[in-house]
Amino acid sequence: MKGDIGVIGLAVMGQNLILNMNDHGFKVVAFNRTVSKVEEFLEGPAKDTNIIGATSLEDLVSKLESPRKIMLMVRAGDVVDAFINKLVPLLDKGDIIIDGGNSNYPDTNRRVAELEAKGLLFVGSGVSGGEEGARFGPSIMPGGSEAAWPVIKPIFQAISAKTAAGEPCCDWVGKNGAGHFVKMVHNGIEYGDMQLISEAYHFMKSGLELSHDEMQAILQEWNKTELDSYLVEITAEIIGYKDEDGQPLVEKILDTAGQKGTGKWTGINALDLGIPLTLITEAVFARCVSSMKEQRVEAESLFGKTIAKIDGDKKEWVDALRQALLASKIISYAQGFMLIREASEEFNWDLNYGNVALMWRGGCIIRSAFLGNIRDAYDTNPEIKFLGSDTYFKDILLSSMPAWRKVASKAMEIGLPMPTMTSALTFLDGYTTASLPANMIQAQRDYFGAHTYERIDQPRGQFFHTNWTGTGGNTASTTYDV
Ligand code: 6PG
Repeated sequence: MKGDIGVIGLAVMGQNLILNMNDHGFKVVAFNRTVSKVEEFLEGPAKDTNIIGATSLEDLVSKLESPRKIMLMVRAGDVVDAFINKLVPLLDKGDIIIDGGNSNYPDTNRRVAELEAKGLLFVGSGVSGGEEGARFGPSIMPGGSEAAWPVIKPIFQAISAKTAAGEPCCDWVGKNGAGHFVKMVHNGIEYGDMQLISEAYHFMKSGLELSHDEMQAILQEWNKTELDSYLVEITAEIIGYKDEDGQPLVEKILDTAGQKGTGKWTGINALDLGIPLTLITEAVFARCVSSMKEQRVEAESLFGKTIAKIDGDKKEWVDALRQALLASKIISYAQGFMLIREASEEFNWDLNYGNVALMWRGGCIIRSAFLGNIRDAYDTNPEIKFLGSDTYFKDILLSSMPAWRKVASKAMEIGLPMPTMTSALTFLDGYTTASLPANMIQAQRDYFGAHTYERIDQPRGQFFHTNWTGTGGNTASTTYDV
């Protein structure tokens, strides 16, 4: 009997995905560039399973049922292209190559076009959930050649995480690079959530001077509220984790955050598409600031910087912080979905926003109860432009506002950096202000460069120029937006 699917790449994600497929009754053929790893896998974690090994790409291809389904679980970038180029001459029309790595979606757009031109099908699929998710149920976000979906759907939906109601956290996202785009935004949101939680930890530790046991208990409590999420849950565990000497391990970890690029791509795309993705972008910049460790150490002594302690009832502050965290999180997701919506319209992807929330409901790093509410919001109104205007989220934003402002102003006052919580509030203040000072920017642009402006007492689309100095002339420059 031939294999149902081939998987290339036996790093931990690849191995775990294969074991997961095997558990669900699929026959998997495993291959790795360093072929000795195949043997090690078969004699190790894959012992006594139905998994079979391949010694070469030719061997892999010959062992697969038609149409062949071959999933790449390799490092994003050139390695993906190198495997595609080697596979293409070995495959037949209708065969499917799936890229399960964190590829940049323009690469996926290109690969879909190139392979479809050769009669093959290509799927770029986000896979989230880390090692554990891959093994027992990840969130899977496939997009690309739509004809591939009915063929891979039974495998993908079987191995994916399920919601409490049993729905698979995997569905067809859309054509071209839509799956990888949605995974990229997932990772951007992951950056935002992590930074928000880190700011809350900083506020509790340095502002309120709470102990690690107290902070752990607080996070565990928060995890029983609307903040119920995987990232809050693991943060509570991290805070409680003691090193060999009995001290919290987290305090011994160097405060420089790494990044592999997906958060940065999210920010770049937001700028390209003109979406104010302020929170996620601040989270990326916060990682950049953190990486300037030596400079920060020097600057702290240069500026004599300290963080003042917060007076007042600690319980009240902790509750205000919880509200600030929740409200900021709503803004982050609202901005993330604005970006997804804009991309869907710009690239004609026809994305289903409620389905995206459903795919993130379980299995992935940002999984949370909250995503169920987002899905409900899109079920009620699929065309909603700003998630914060959905009744459920609007009520939370409005009721949290005093606490949120209190926390943000206190952080500013005591010198504690909270780039994401404060920028989220600033965004909402801008978004809910009908008259912003951009009239001044338009006047300045017109003054120095004759860039023209629209008037509040004239219909939109009519542009005016004023000779502000009397010497600038009446010729306006052309009006265009980038
Ligand atoms: C996931 C994660 C995964 C990876 C991140 C880490 O969804 O399972 O997002 O893809 O852990 O890419 O990203 P950074 O190294 O950039 O923090």
